[in-house]
Amino acid sequence: MALYQFIHLLGVVVWVGGMFFAYMVLRPAAVEILPPPERLRLWDKVFSRFFKWVWLAIFLLLTSGLYMIHLFGGLFLAPGYVQMMLALGLTMMAIFIYVFFGQYVPFNRHVAKQDWQVAGKVLATIRKLVAVNLTLGMVIIAVAVLGR
Ligand code: HEM
Repeated sequence: MALYQFIHLLGVVVWVGGMFFAYMVLRPAAVEILPPPERLRLWDKVFSRFFKWVWLAIFLLLTSGLYMIHLFGGLFLAPGYVQMMLALGLTMMAIFIYVFFGQYVPFNRHVAKQDWQVAGKVLATIRKLVAVNLTLGMVIIAVAVLGR
């Protein structure tokens, strides 16, 4: 179990820590010093790198989490906080998949075409959805640690 908890926590650190850094640190710094075209290009590169790590984190979270549920004897025998984690974790994953395919892929195309106005609007939507997922991530950590 300890090995799966470790793998699970690696996924948490990469995903939630990465969103915290992007939202709370990089975003205000970029707004302060970069004009829109450079800022949008920066986010395009940041997302293309960070999102690869998020896919890996999701894979690690799901495989380790589902295996630990199996060790508990199945979903119905797992404690309530684990069931809640699964529901909230799947919600985070669904939001990420929407951000990736529904927002980031078109954002990447708008940046390539230098369509800065539309790209800026899409970025604002991505920012709001990342804020939602960052909050959900913090709530899940609270549920996992305090719910035990
Ligand atoms: C969606 C699939 C997920 C499943 C099936 C799942 C399942 C589990 C299970 C079974 C445990 C072990 C509980 C125990 O040992 O008492 C656990 C621990 C934990 N999970 Fe998840 N989880 C998922 C997603 C997440 C997400 C998205 C986060 C945070 C963003 C998260 C954060 C944690 C934390 C902080 C722990 C405590 C680790 C420890 O044991 O010290 N989980 N999870």
